[in-house]
Amino acid sequence: MRPSYHPLTLNEVIIQQQSAFPYAKGELSQLLSHIAVAAKVVNKKINKAGLVDITGGADNVNIQGEAQQKLDIFANNTFIASIKATGILGGIASEEDDEIVIFDDDLSLNGKYVLCMDPLDGSSNIDVNVSVGTIFSIYRRISPPGTKVVIDDFLQEGTKQVAAGYIIYGSSTMMVYTTGLGTTSFTLDPSIGEFCLTEKFMETPEDGKIYSINEGNYAKFPRGIKDYLKYCQKVDEKTNRPYSSRYIGSLVADFHRNLMKGGIFLYPKTESNPKGKLRLLYECNPIAFLAEQAGGTATDGDGNRIMEIKPTDIHQRVPFIVGSKNMVRKVEEFMSKYYEK
Ligand code: AHG
Ligand code: MN
Ligand code: MN
Repeated sequence: MRPSYHPLTLNEVIIQQQSAFPYAKGELSQLLSHIAVAAKVVNKKINKAGLVDITGGADNVNIQGEAQQKLDIFANNTFIASIKATGILGGIASEEDDEIVIFDDDLSLNGKYVLCMDPLDGSSNIDVNVSVGTIFSIYRRISPPGTKVVIDDFLQEGTKQVAAGYIIYGSSTMMVYTTGLGTTSFTLDPSIGEFCLTEKFMETPEDGKIYSINEGNYAKFPRGIKDYLKYCQKVDEKTNRPYSSRYIGSLVADFHRNLMKGGIFLYPKTESNPKGKLRLLYECNPIAFLAEQAGGTATDGDGNRIMEIKPTDIHQRVPFIVGSKNMVRKVEEFMSKYYEK
């Protein structure tokens, strides 16, 4: 036999999966490959963070009042340019742009899809060499092709997503995506510049022993969440240990670890922030889709499935509880004791 190294690349897997959609014209596949190219460009830049002048703030604040990092803007521009070039999208809703970005060239006006994205998630971690990510979510537009996309194209329930994914720029760079046929992961092989298949059908454990939450906010949490945290901290009779607390502060990285090992991520509502912090369109919905496709689940802690929430604003926030099925169920159980109610 001839010795060879032939990993399955992202494009090859996308082509395989495309055959499951007999009417697909390959447009979605093309879009995913363009996202991967932009991810490689952003990855290169992130790797050089300490060497070139891209760390730190950009003296700018986004619509959510958050200081933009230089890399937030670089990632945003890179993804927009790369994705626009496909002509498949009518427009984009991004964390870093106040309004939707409409593509009005002839090709894009006929684009069938729209995309929501968090170009750089966990960006305050970039200055300290901690994992960050990119999150995206794709919908079929509802307005007629040939016209400019409108806000309602973006305000669709998460159940309508046709694809979603993230890139994690970590100790290795990975892309994890779903088109509704399971959650698939790829690792960037820097020597050949390709995302290579890691796991075709990821399965998250139904139970886990890791909880991820910013406990600094403890005093402001609802009673149900406080009770759940006490439950996590109780010593388990079998293992003689409580659950482990792990919190990076990059949603993508915290979620990725829990997806692999089993665990739960919580960003609940508080009195001062009754809608939590994370954004429904470009953080919670795509992560919820990936979680569900891997056997996990995602709710708002008040019994509502994240993907069934009808959005009213592109930057809307939502309380977010995601991870292993039985752990999320347990949180809901604690929360329901205090429903008011
Ligand atoms: P972003 O960098 O896109 O604004 O997202 C940061 C988010 C998310 O990644 C993370 O889970 C959360 O903010 C952390 O918030 P706290 O610092 O309040 O814990
Ligand atoms: Mn984010
Ligand atoms: Mn961001």
